[in-house]
Amino acid sequence: MDSKLPGTGTTIFAVMSALSEECDAINLSQGFPSFNPSQDLLDRITHYLNSGANQYAPMPGVPSLRHAIAAKVEQLYGRTIDAELEVTVSDGATEGLFSAIHAVVRAGDEVIVFDPAYDSYEPAVTLAGGTTTHLPLVFPDEDADFQIDWNRLEDAIGPKTRLIILNFPHNPTGAILSPADIERLADIVRDTSIYLISDEVYEHIIFDKADHQSLLRNDELWERSFIISSFGKTYHATGWKVGYCVAPPVLTAEFRKIHQWTCYAVITPIQLAIADYMQDTPHHYVELPVFYEQKRDRFCELVRDSRFDYQPAKGTFFQLLDYSNITDEDDVAYARRLTREIGVASIPISVFCEKPPPGRKLRFCFAKDDQILEEAASRLCQL
Ligand SMILES: Cc1ncc(COP(=O)(O)O)c(C=O)c1O
Repeated sequence: MDSKLPGTGTTIFAVMSALSEECDAINLSQGFPSFNPSQDLLDRITHYLNSGANQYAPMPGVPSLRHAIAAKVEQLYGRTIDAELEVTVSDGATEGLFSAIHAVVRAGDEVIVFDPAYDSYEPAVTLAGGTTTHLPLVFPDEDADFQIDWNRLEDAIGPKTRLIILNFPHNPTGAILSPADIERLADIVRDTSIYLISDEVYEHIIFDKADHQSLLRNDELWERSFIISSFGKTYHATGWKVGYCVAPPVLTAEFRKIHQWTCYAVITPIQLAIADYMQDTPHHYVELPVFYEQKRDRFCELVRDSRFDYQPAKGTFFQLLDYSNITDEDDVAYARRLTREIGVASIPISVFCEKPPPGRKLRFCFAKDDQILEEAASRLCQL
């Protein structure tokens, strides 16, 4: 068959998780916690399952959840949003991203992403008839972080540029945005008709007391933005695939036109349970960064005496380790070899890049119980 996505194979997450299983390895590749959501949240789901909440939810999401999302947005980012007109619950962030991309991208449009770029963006752009321009993030030297090259972005924008997709805290590098970055972005798009998608699925996993620079904080950027998030990352429940899109009314109306045909509505009892839980435990957002910062610190401490180099991640539950001191093998080959030979699965980051990135880095997920991290690190330290 003449494929619509000829360059697309199986996502690296599925490939590395399958290899990990085959080798009975410790799976630090795909980004999912080894621990469960809170028992209170699970009990709320059981409650709704047993009280008849088993039919279609409203297409944009159950009202209680949309209101809880609006309350959170106001509390954390200072923006008052309309739960009826500006919030849509999606089938994970993945469907939210797909629907937002299809809401704006037309045949011939150009979309800018930053490499390493999460791998669901480009196929959605291609299916919408657009083309993707990959701009590499600046890779850090000793005292700089991964960051957007704003001059390069300015140069890359042309008459066909329709959309820029951002993802901060950033998977896989753990980079975050500063308030100065937000100002620079606002300057660059000010006199254009470019839309923005901000993939903020790690909005609550940010370290060292930094504040998450959501595009929701900025009046100008908000007007042209779709903010996508995911409860999977926040509540240790990636398997539920429940996320959401927040966007101004005109953008939300277009988003819903796509959402109603890609998904229609999201699982009812889980939406109702998350709404209750958000209301009952607002401190969850405050505690989550601390919880994951301890995991990051633990993992970094455990690999400190290894031959890997690293800069501690600023956010997300991923840590990059640079293996340049160990081998000059390419990262895909090395990630496979590590899985087979020492039983630790990771993700090579070149698969998220159009051109090979500088250095030799693998991504390790530290959303795992301590004994799993300890065992994985002891194997990595033997190299
Ligand atoms: C940057 C990024 N965006 C989107 C997603 C997808 O989120 P969901 O599982 O809610 O579809 C992920 C999941 O790993 C991610 O890392």
